Amino acid sequence: MDIFDKIKKNRGALGQHAEYSHGYFMFPKLEGDISNKMMFRGKEVLVWSVNNYLGMANHPEVRKADADAAAKYGLSQPMGARMMSGNSNLHEKLEEELSSFVSKEDTILVNFGYQGMASAIDALVDRKDVIVYDSESHACILDGVRMHQGKRFVYAHNEIDKLEIMLQRATKIIGETDGGILVITEGVFGMGGDTGKLPEIVALKKKYDFRLFVDDAHGIGTMGETGAGTGEHYGVQDDIDIYFGTFAKAFASIGGFISSTENVVDYLRYNMRSQIFAKSLPMPLVVGNLKRLELFRNDTSFKDDLWKIADALQAGLKAEGFNLGETDSQVTPVILRGGPFEAANVVTDLRENYAIFCSLVTYPVVPKDVILLRLIPTAVHTLEDVDYTVGVFKKIKAKLERGEYDKEKVVFA
Ligand SMILES: Cc1ncc(COP(=O)(O)O)c(C=O)c1O
Repeated sequence: MDIFDKIKKNRGALGQHAEYSHGYFMFPKLEGDISNKMMFRGKEVLVWSVNNYLGMANHPEVRKADADAAAKYGLSQPMGARMMSGNSNLHEKLEEELSSFVSKEDTILVNFGYQGMASAIDALVDRKDVIVYDSESHACILDGVRMHQGKRFVYAHNEIDKLEIMLQRATKIIGETDGGILVITEGVFGMGGDTGKLPEIVALKKKYDFRLFVDDAHGIGTMGETGAGTGEHYGVQDDIDIYFGTFAKAFASIGGFISSTENVVDYLRYNMRSQIFAKSLPMPLVVGNLKRLELFRNDTSFKDDLWKIADALQAGLKAEGFNLGETDSQVTPVILRGGPFEAANVVTDLRENYAIFCSLVTYPVVPKDVILLRLIPTAVHTLEDVDYTVGVFKKIKAKLERGEYDKEKVVFA
Protein backbone atom coordinates (compact mmCIF):
# COMPACT_ATOMS: atom_id res chain seq x y z
CA MET A 1 0.00 0.00 0.00
CA ASP A 2 1.31 3.45 -0.92
CA ILE A 3 1.25 5.61 2.22
CA PHE A 4 -0.07 8.48 0.12
CA ASP A 5 -3.09 6.34 -0.91
CA LYS A 6 -3.69 5.48 2.73
CA ILE A 7 -3.73 9.09 3.86
CA LYS A 8 -6.01 10.08 1.00
CA LYS A 9 -8.58 7.53 2.24
CA ASN A 10 -8.17 8.19 5.92
CA ARG A 11 -7.54 11.79 6.89
CA GLY A 12 -7.28 11.03 10.61
CA ALA A 13 -9.48 11.69 13.65
CA LEU A 14 -9.64 15.46 13.14
CA GLY A 15 -8.92 15.65 9.42
CA GLN A 16 -12.05 13.62 8.59
CA HIS A 17 -14.10 16.72 9.44
CA ALA A 18 -11.94 19.06 7.37
CA GLU A 19 -14.29 19.27 4.39
CA TYR A 20 -17.01 21.15 6.21
CA SER A 21 -15.00 22.58 9.07
CA HIS A 22 -11.77 23.95 7.59
CA GLY A 23 -11.54 27.71 8.03
CA TYR A 24 -14.59 27.81 10.28
CA PHE A 25 -14.50 25.31 13.15
CA MET A 26 -10.91 24.35 12.50
CA PHE A 27 -8.16 26.70 11.36
CA PRO A 28 -10.42 29.77 11.67
CA LYS A 29 -8.67 33.11 11.12
CA LEU A 30 -9.04 35.64 13.91
CA GLU A 31 -7.67 38.92 12.70
CA GLY A 32 -6.72 42.28 14.18
CA ASP A 33 -5.09 43.19 17.47
CA ILE A 34 -5.39 40.47 20.09
CA SER A 35 -8.07 41.64 22.49
CA ASN A 36 -11.63 40.95 23.65
CA LYS A 37 -12.96 41.98 20.21
CA MET A 38 -11.37 40.71 17.01
CA MET A 39 -12.39 40.17 13.39
CA PHE A 40 -13.70 36.84 12.08
CA ARG A 41 -14.64 36.59 8.40
CA GLY A 42 -14.91 40.37 8.13
CA LYS A 43 -17.14 40.77 11.20
CA GLU A 44 -16.26 41.91 14.71
CA VAL A 45 -16.70 39.16 17.30
CA LEU A 46 -16.37 38.94 21.07
CA VAL A 47 -13.55 36.44 21.50
CA TRP A 48 -13.46 33.90 24.35
CA SER A 49 -10.91 31.56 22.87
CA VAL A 50 -7.42 33.03 23.12
CA ASN A 51 -5.18 32.33 26.10
CA ASN A 52 -4.10 35.94 26.44
CA TYR A 53 -4.94 35.54 30.13
CA LEU A 54 -3.23 38.68 31.46
CA GLY A 55 -3.79 40.85 28.41
CA MET A 56 -0.06 40.95 27.68
CA ALA A 57 -0.45 40.45 23.92
CA ASN A 58 -1.41 44.00 23.15
CA HIS A 59 -0.05 45.88 26.15
CA PRO A 60 1.70 49.02 24.80
CA GLU A 61 4.92 48.39 26.78
CA VAL A 62 5.01 44.80 25.56
CA ARG A 63 4.41 45.80 21.95
CA LYS A 64 7.20 48.39 22.23
CA ALA A 65 9.64 45.95 23.85
CA ASP A 66 8.88 43.36 21.13
CA ALA A 67 9.28 45.91 18.33
CA ASP A 68 12.47 47.45 19.77
CA ALA A 69 14.03 44.01 20.26
CA ALA A 70 13.10 42.94 16.73
CA ALA A 71 14.64 46.17 15.37
CA LYS A 72 17.81 45.75 17.43
CA TYR A 73 18.44 42.03 17.06
CA GLY A 74 16.36 40.86 14.09
CA LEU A 75 14.88 37.39 14.22
CA SER A 76 18.15 35.55 13.60
CA GLN A 77 20.09 36.21 16.76
CA PRO A 78 21.44 34.11 18.31
CA MET A 79 22.25 31.54 15.63
CA GLY A 80 22.41 27.87 16.53
CA ALA A 81 21.43 25.73 19.50
CA ARG A 82 22.21 27.03 22.99
CA MET A 83 24.93 24.42 23.44
CA MET A 84 26.77 25.26 20.23
CA SER A 85 26.51 28.95 19.37
CA GLY A 86 23.04 30.09 20.48
CA ASN A 87 23.58 31.17 24.09
CA SER A 88 23.34 34.78 25.30
CA ASN A 89 23.38 36.83 28.50
CA LEU A 90 19.72 37.68 27.94
CA HIS A 91 18.73 34.00 27.74
CA GLU A 92 20.52 33.45 31.04
CA LYS A 93 18.96 36.57 32.56
CA LEU A 94 15.46 35.36 31.68
CA GLU A 95 16.29 32.00 33.27
CA GLU A 96 17.47 33.72 36.45
CA GLU A 97 14.34 35.87 36.65
CA LEU A 98 12.08 32.87 36.13
CA SER A 99 13.90 30.83 38.80
CA SER A 100 13.35 33.62 41.27
CA PHE A 101 9.68 34.03 40.22
CA VAL A 102 8.81 30.35 40.70
CA SER A 103 11.17 29.85 43.68
CA LYS A 104 13.42 27.22 42.16
CA GLU A 105 17.21 27.06 42.04
CA ASP A 106 17.60 27.03 38.29
CA THR A 107 15.70 27.18 35.00
CA ILE A 108 16.19 26.16 31.40
CA LEU A 109 14.33 27.83 28.55
CA VAL A 110 12.70 25.64 25.91
CA ASN A 111 11.85 26.91 22.46
CA PHE A 112 8.35 25.41 22.41
CA GLY A 113 6.58 24.24 25.54
CA TYR A 114 5.40 21.11 23.77
CA GLN A 115 8.83 19.87 22.68
CA GLY A 116 10.37 20.95 25.97
CA MET A 117 7.89 19.01 28.07
CA ALA A 118 8.08 15.84 25.95
CA SER A 119 11.84 16.01 25.76
CA ALA A 120 12.33 16.65 29.47
CA ILE A 121 10.32 13.52 30.28
CA ASP A 122 12.42 11.60 27.77
CA ALA A 123 15.65 12.89 29.32
CA LEU A 124 14.69 12.24 32.93
CA VAL A 125 13.74 8.57 32.79
CA ASP A 126 15.36 5.40 31.51
CA ARG A 127 14.08 1.85 31.07
CA LYS A 128 14.41 1.06 34.78
CA ASP A 129 12.16 3.95 35.79
CA VAL A 130 8.37 4.05 35.95
CA ILE A 131 6.16 6.97 34.90
CA VAL A 132 2.78 7.45 36.59
CA TYR A 133 0.60 10.10 34.92
CA ASP A 134 -2.93 11.53 34.91
CA SER A 135 -5.29 10.25 32.20
CA GLU A 136 -6.23 13.78 31.06
CA SER A 137 -2.64 14.82 30.47
CA HIS A 138 -1.86 17.14 27.56
CA ALA A 139 -0.57 15.61 24.31
CA CYS A 140 2.98 16.79 25.04
CA ILE A 141 3.04 14.71 28.23
CA LEU A 142 1.61 11.73 26.35
CA ASP A 143 4.33 12.10 23.70
CA GLY A 144 6.98 12.21 26.42
CA VAL A 145 5.51 9.05 27.90
CA ARG A 146 5.44 7.42 24.45
CA MET A 147 9.21 7.83 24.20
CA HIS A 148 9.74 6.11 27.55
CA GLN A 149 11.16 2.61 27.23
CA GLY A 150 10.23 1.46 30.72
CA LYS A 151 6.88 0.86 32.40
CA ARG A 152 4.20 3.52 32.61
CA PHE A 153 0.92 3.62 34.52
CA VAL A 154 -1.95 5.99 33.90
CA TYR A 155 -4.39 6.86 36.69
CA ALA A 156 -8.00 8.02 36.26
CA HIS A 157 -8.09 11.80 36.09
CA ASN A 158 -7.42 13.39 39.48
CA GLU A 159 -8.44 10.23 41.37
CA ILE A 160 -5.91 10.05 44.14
CA ASP A 161 -6.87 6.56 45.31
CA LYS A 162 -6.19 5.34 41.74
CA LEU A 163 -2.88 7.20 41.73
CA GLU A 164 -1.99 5.41 44.96
CA ILE A 165 -2.75 2.00 43.43
CA MET A 166 -0.46 2.87 40.51
CA LEU A 167 2.24 4.03 42.92
CA GLN A 168 2.03 0.68 44.68
CA ARG A 169 2.50 -1.12 41.36
CA ALA A 170 5.32 1.21 40.36
CA THR A 171 7.06 0.75 43.71
CA LYS A 172 7.00 -3.01 43.22
CA ILE A 173 8.58 -2.67 39.78
CA ILE A 174 11.36 -0.35 40.80
CA GLY A 175 12.15 -2.77 43.64
CA GLU A 176 13.16 -5.18 40.87
CA THR A 177 14.71 -2.75 38.37
CA ASP A 178 16.42 -0.41 40.82
CA GLY A 179 14.86 2.58 39.05
CA GLY A 180 12.81 5.56 40.22
CA ILE A 181 9.24 6.85 39.84
CA LEU A 182 8.21 10.05 38.05
CA VAL A 183 4.65 11.30 38.66
CA ILE A 184 3.32 13.79 36.09
CA THR A 185 0.23 15.96 36.38
CA GLU A 186 -0.98 19.30 35.12
CA GLY A 187 -1.32 22.23 37.51
CA VAL A 188 -4.47 23.46 35.77
CA PHE A 189 -6.03 21.01 33.31
CA GLY A 190 -6.44 22.95 30.09
CA MET A 191 -9.74 21.42 28.93
CA GLY A 192 -11.79 21.06 32.13
CA GLY A 193 -10.11 23.86 34.09
CA ASP A 194 -9.84 21.77 37.25
CA THR A 195 -6.58 21.99 39.13
CA GLY A 196 -4.43 18.91 39.69
CA LYS A 197 -4.82 17.72 43.28
CA LEU A 198 -1.35 18.84 44.18
CA PRO A 199 -1.66 18.77 48.02
CA GLU A 200 -2.99 15.20 47.93
CA ILE A 201 -0.32 14.11 45.45
CA VAL A 202 2.41 15.73 47.52
CA ALA A 203 1.05 14.03 50.67
CA LEU A 204 1.68 10.66 48.99
CA LYS A 205 5.39 11.46 49.02
CA LYS A 206 5.37 10.51 52.71
CA LYS A 207 4.38 6.94 51.75
CA TYR A 208 6.04 6.47 48.36
CA ASP A 209 9.33 7.49 46.82
CA PHE A 210 8.72 9.53 43.70
CA ARG A 211 9.54 12.82 41.99
CA LEU A 212 6.73 15.15 40.92
CA PHE A 213 6.73 16.94 37.54
CA VAL A 214 3.98 19.57 37.13
CA ASP A 215 2.98 21.01 33.75
CA ASP A 216 1.58 24.39 34.77
CA ALA A 217 0.97 25.81 31.29
CA HIS A 218 -2.36 27.33 32.37
CA GLY A 219 -1.36 28.14 35.95
CA ILE A 220 1.77 30.23 35.46
CA GLY A 221 0.85 33.91 35.73
CA THR A 222 -2.76 33.15 36.66
CA MET A 223 -2.71 31.11 39.88
CA GLY A 224 -1.22 31.88 43.29
CA GLU A 225 -0.87 35.13 45.16
CA THR A 226 2.00 36.40 43.04
CA GLY A 227 1.01 34.51 39.89
CA ALA A 228 3.81 31.98 40.40
CA GLY A 229 1.39 29.17 39.61
CA THR A 230 -0.67 26.33 40.99
CA GLY A 231 2.09 25.20 43.37
CA GLU A 232 2.03 28.63 44.98
CA HIS A 233 -1.79 28.57 45.02
CA TYR A 234 -1.74 25.37 47.08
CA GLY A 235 1.37 26.25 49.10
CA VAL A 236 3.26 23.21 47.77
CA GLN A 237 5.70 24.80 45.34
CA ASP A 238 8.69 23.39 47.27
CA ASP A 239 7.30 19.86 46.90
CA ILE A 240 7.09 20.14 43.12
CA ASP A 241 10.39 18.69 41.98
CA ILE A 242 10.19 19.88 38.37
CA TYR A 243 8.01 22.79 37.31
CA PHE A 244 7.06 23.58 33.71
CA GLY A 245 5.54 26.78 32.39
CA THR A 246 4.82 27.97 28.87
CA PHE A 247 5.14 31.46 27.39
CA ALA A 248 2.24 30.68 25.04
CA LYS A 249 -0.59 31.61 27.43
CA ALA A 250 -0.28 34.19 30.24
CA PHE A 251 2.90 35.57 28.58
CA ALA A 252 1.12 35.68 25.18
CA SER A 253 4.38 34.79 23.45
CA ILE A 254 6.24 31.61 22.40
CA GLY A 255 8.51 29.21 24.24
CA GLY A 256 8.53 27.85 27.74
CA PHE A 257 10.72 26.93 30.68
CA ILE A 258 11.50 24.16 33.13
CA SER A 259 12.62 24.94 36.68
CA SER A 260 14.09 22.65 39.31
CA THR A 261 17.26 22.18 41.34
CA GLU A 262 20.57 23.25 39.84
CA ASN A 263 21.55 19.65 39.44
CA VAL A 264 18.37 18.63 37.56
CA VAL A 265 18.37 21.68 35.29
CA ASP A 266 22.04 21.19 34.52
CA TYR A 267 21.27 17.61 33.57
CA LEU A 268 18.39 18.75 31.34
CA ARG A 269 20.62 21.39 29.74
CA TYR A 270 22.97 18.68 28.53
CA ASN A 271 20.44 15.93 27.83
CA MET A 272 17.22 17.40 26.49
CA ARG A 273 17.42 16.39 22.84
CA SER A 274 14.78 18.83 21.56
CA GLN A 275 16.90 21.72 22.83
CA ILE A 276 20.43 20.43 22.20
CA PHE A 277 19.63 19.76 18.56
CA ALA A 278 17.43 22.78 17.80
CA LYS A 279 17.94 26.52 17.43
CA SER A 280 17.57 28.57 20.60
CA LEU A 281 14.78 31.10 21.21
CA PRO A 282 15.22 34.21 19.04
CA MET A 283 16.32 37.29 20.98
CA PRO A 284 13.09 39.31 20.52
CA LEU A 285 11.18 36.51 22.25
CA VAL A 286 13.66 36.47 25.12
CA VAL A 287 13.53 40.24 25.51
CA GLY A 288 9.75 40.25 25.09
CA ASN A 289 9.32 37.55 27.72
CA LEU A 290 11.57 39.47 30.14
CA LYS A 291 9.32 42.50 29.67
CA ARG A 292 6.11 40.53 30.23
CA LEU A 293 7.49 38.91 33.37
CA GLU A 294 8.66 42.28 34.72
CA LEU A 295 5.22 43.77 34.09
CA PHE A 296 3.03 41.14 35.71
CA ARG A 297 5.48 40.35 38.51
CA ASN A 298 5.50 43.94 39.67
CA ASP A 299 1.81 44.53 39.20
CA THR A 300 -0.69 41.88 40.26
CA SER A 301 -3.57 43.97 38.88
CA PHE A 302 -3.23 42.04 35.58
CA LYS A 303 -4.05 38.84 37.44
CA ASP A 304 -6.72 40.57 39.51
CA ASP A 305 -8.38 41.84 36.32
CA LEU A 306 -8.38 38.33 34.88
CA TRP A 307 -10.00 36.93 38.03
CA LYS A 308 -12.59 39.71 38.16
CA ILE A 309 -13.76 38.57 34.72
CA ALA A 310 -13.36 34.83 35.37
CA ASP A 311 -15.31 35.04 38.65
CA ALA A 312 -18.09 37.14 37.11
CA LEU A 313 -18.37 34.87 34.08
CA GLN A 314 -18.50 31.69 36.16
CA ALA A 315 -20.90 33.16 38.72
CA GLY A 316 -23.18 34.50 35.96
CA LEU A 317 -23.28 31.18 34.12
CA LYS A 318 -23.82 29.18 37.31
CA ALA A 319 -26.66 31.49 38.34
CA GLU A 320 -28.34 30.58 35.03
CA GLY A 321 -27.97 26.89 35.84
CA PHE A 322 -25.06 26.09 33.52
CA ASN A 323 -22.88 23.09 34.27
CA LEU A 324 -19.24 24.26 34.46
CA GLY A 325 -17.86 20.85 35.35
CA GLU A 326 -15.13 20.80 37.96
CA THR A 327 -13.33 24.02 37.07
CA ASP A 328 -11.56 25.81 39.87
CA SER A 329 -9.40 27.95 37.59
CA GLN A 330 -10.06 30.67 35.03
CA VAL A 331 -10.64 28.08 32.26
CA THR A 332 -14.43 27.95 31.89
CA PRO A 333 -15.98 24.88 30.25
CA VAL A 334 -19.72 25.09 29.57
CA ILE A 335 -21.16 21.60 29.33
CA LEU A 336 -24.37 21.10 27.34
CA ARG A 337 -26.20 18.04 26.04
CA GLY A 338 -26.39 17.51 22.30
CA GLY A 339 -24.91 15.65 19.34
CA PRO A 340 -21.95 16.72 17.17
CA PHE A 341 -24.11 18.51 14.55
CA GLU A 342 -26.14 20.33 17.19
CA ALA A 343 -22.81 21.38 18.70
CA ALA A 344 -21.59 22.75 15.38
CA ASN A 345 -24.88 24.59 14.87
CA VAL A 346 -24.73 26.15 18.33
CA VAL A 347 -21.26 27.48 17.54
CA THR A 348 -22.40 28.78 14.15
CA ASP A 349 -25.36 30.52 15.78
CA LEU A 350 -23.06 32.10 18.37
CA ARG A 351 -20.68 33.35 15.72
CA GLU A 352 -23.10 34.45 13.03
CA ASN A 353 -26.07 35.77 15.01
CA TYR A 354 -24.58 36.84 18.33
CA ALA A 355 -20.98 37.68 17.30
CA ILE A 356 -19.49 35.48 20.02
CA PHE A 357 -16.45 33.39 19.16
CA CYS A 358 -15.61 30.50 21.46
CA SER A 359 -14.01 27.11 20.98
CA LEU A 360 -15.89 23.87 20.68
CA VAL A 361 -14.68 20.57 22.04
CA THR A 362 -16.54 17.53 20.70
CA TYR A 363 -16.26 13.77 20.37
CA PRO A 364 -13.81 12.01 20.75
CA VAL A 365 -12.43 14.41 23.38
CA VAL A 366 -15.83 14.41 25.13
CA PRO A 367 -18.62 11.75 24.88
CA LYS A 368 -20.83 11.79 21.74
CA ASP A 369 -23.80 13.44 23.48
CA VAL A 370 -21.79 16.20 25.17
CA ILE A 371 -21.17 19.69 23.82
CA LEU A 372 -18.31 21.45 25.54
CA LEU A 373 -17.95 25.15 24.83
CA ARG A 374 -14.69 26.38 26.28
CA LEU A 375 -14.53 30.02 27.38
CA ILE A 376 -11.23 31.68 28.15
CA PRO A 377 -11.64 34.87 30.18
CA THR A 378 -8.83 37.41 30.09
CA ALA A 379 -7.82 40.65 31.79
CA VAL A 380 -8.93 42.62 28.72
CA HIS A 381 -12.56 41.47 28.82
CA THR A 382 -15.15 43.74 30.39
CA LEU A 383 -18.09 43.07 32.72
CA GLU A 384 -20.36 44.12 29.83
CA ASP A 385 -18.80 41.32 27.75
CA VAL A 386 -19.64 38.93 30.58
CA ASP A 387 -23.27 40.10 30.91
CA TYR A 388 -23.83 39.96 27.17
CA THR A 389 -22.33 36.45 26.94
CA VAL A 390 -24.32 35.04 29.86
CA GLY A 391 -27.51 36.43 28.29
CA VAL A 392 -26.70 34.89 24.91
CA PHE A 393 -25.76 31.54 26.43
CA LYS A 394 -29.11 31.47 28.20
CA LYS A 395 -30.82 31.91 24.82
CA ILE A 396 -28.84 29.23 23.02
CA LYS A 397 -29.38 26.77 25.87
CA ALA A 398 -33.14 27.30 25.61
CA LYS A 399 -32.98 26.83 21.82
CA LEU A 400 -30.97 23.65 22.26
CA GLU A 401 -33.44 22.30 24.79
CA ARG A 402 -36.31 23.07 22.40
CA GLY A 403 -34.49 21.03 19.72
CA GLU A 404 -34.09 24.00 17.37
CA TYR A 405 -30.59 23.10 16.18
CA ASP A 406 -30.31 20.68 13.25
CA LYS A 407 -29.12 17.24 14.38
CA GLU A 408 -28.19 15.88 10.92
CA LYS A 409 -26.09 18.50 9.22
CA VAL A 410 -24.26 21.77 9.74
CA VAL A 411 -26.42 24.72 8.78
CA PHE A 412 -24.52 27.93 8.09
CA ALA A 413 -26.89 30.72 9.08
C1 LIG B 1 -1.10 21.73 29.48
C2 LIG B 1 -0.24 22.17 28.34
N1 LIG B 1 1.05 21.80 28.32
C3 LIG B 1 1.88 22.18 27.32
C4 LIG B 1 1.42 22.95 26.27
C5 LIG B 1 2.35 23.27 25.15
O1 LIG B 1 2.86 24.55 25.26
P1 LIG B 1 3.39 25.38 23.99
O2 LIG B 1 2.21 25.99 23.34
O3 LIG B 1 4.34 26.35 24.61
O4 LIG B 1 4.09 24.44 23.07
C6 LIG B 1 0.10 23.39 26.28
C7 LIG B 1 -0.39 24.25 25.18
O5 LIG B 1 -1.40 24.05 24.58
C8 LIG B 1 -0.76 22.98 27.33
O6 LIG B 1 -2.05 23.34 27.34
